[in-house]
Amino acid sequence: MIPYLDLHKINDRHRADFESAFKVFMDRGQNILGEAVTDFESQFAQYCGVKFCVGVGNGLDALRLIFEAYKVIGKLKPGDKVLVCAHTYVATVLSVKQAGLTPVLIDATEDTFNFDLKALNELNDPDIKAILPTHLYGALAPMNEISALANTRNWLVIEDAAQAHGAKNQHNSRAGHLGDAAGFSFYPTKNLGALGDAGAVTTDDAQLAEVIRCLRNYGSQQRYYNKFSGFNSRLDELQAAFLTIKLPQLDQDNARRVHIAMRYDAEIINPHIRLPLGRYHGDHVYHLYVVRTGYREKLERHLQRQGIGTLIHYPVPPHKQEGLTELGLERHPIAELLHDTVLSIPMSPVLTKEEVDQVIAGLNSFTP
Ligand SMILES: Cc1ncc(COP(=O)(O)O)c(C=O)c1O
Repeated sequence: MIPYLDLHKINDRHRADFESAFKVFMDRGQNILGEAVTDFESQFAQYCGVKFCVGVGNGLDALRLIFEAYKVIGKLKPGDKVLVCAHTYVATVLSVKQAGLTPVLIDATEDTFNFDLKALNELNDPDIKAILPTHLYGALAPMNEISALANTRNWLVIEDAAQAHGAKNQHNSRAGHLGDAAGFSFYPTKNLGALGDAGAVTTDDAQLAEVIRCLRNYGSQQRYYNKFSGFNSRLDELQAAFLTIKLPQLDQDNARRVHIAMRYDAEIINPHIRLPLGRYHGDHVYHLYVVRTGYREKLERHLQRQGIGTLIHYPVPPHKQEGLTELGLERHPIAELLHDTVLSIPMSPVLTKEEVDQVIAGLNSFTP
């Protein structure tokens, strides 16, 4: 049996260190915003190559607090439009909406699973004030083109880096340092995953970091004095300690993911299965390996019979979600096609060579 993702095996590699960290936590007695949070913030900032990292409760809040902080600073105002790719996880869209801004969805392209750059270039709406590219599945969004366009239009660029810890562009700049600010999730399944909910914002903007530091803690800089009307979304002290233990392993884990992706690319040969574009130079950290097929249910069942777990990321696009009807009735045909045909196959740094062999054989033996 090859589970879609064996989280237990991933985390068991660090069990002894986690247990020591728990002991330190108990001995120190700092339960909220203590040394472990500060340590992780400085190490993750250094890893991403940014000046500031602010730990928060989860990835959705990381993005939402960036927008809230820009409103406090005066760079955004309620109702401003923010561009989001229609093929993304629903949290990307929710972060914009929850901050009182207006998400504007732009369709994806089939090859990149990301923004249709031609459609972006044609936009000419002065109410658009920011763009929120998602590095979906671990592949960097086309940031050179997005940044160039954002420069000419004066848009803020906020990265949804929830799936791309460690991904690097051609100049060795990492996700988290490719825009004005970035939101990370450390949800347990992520390439850098905690043992519970956790998230962070990275930025070089001192004012933005300072405001988010307040907003995550009721808007307070000094205990019981509230400078802003804030939230409660702090990175948990224990989760921060666990993340600090896992961070040094991230690059090696990502390299293993790329190695597996290269094998899948080279060895899965089946006319009914379309493979993603191969990207091996660090700009894709293969959070997910996503194939496409017009026979998704049959392929799922075929793999299941062979003991190979799969998942769909994601079955319903944000604009078709029951809870997001205000996004309107506009269609985004490519995003819809992608949502109807994608299937994620096992991908993780702890997959063995034999398991990868079996996954490849399973996909190659499929006939609709
Ligand atoms: C692309 C993307 N954005 C945002 C989030 C939200 O992160 P969290 O689950 O930590 O709130 C996720 C996580 O699942 C995600 O995949």
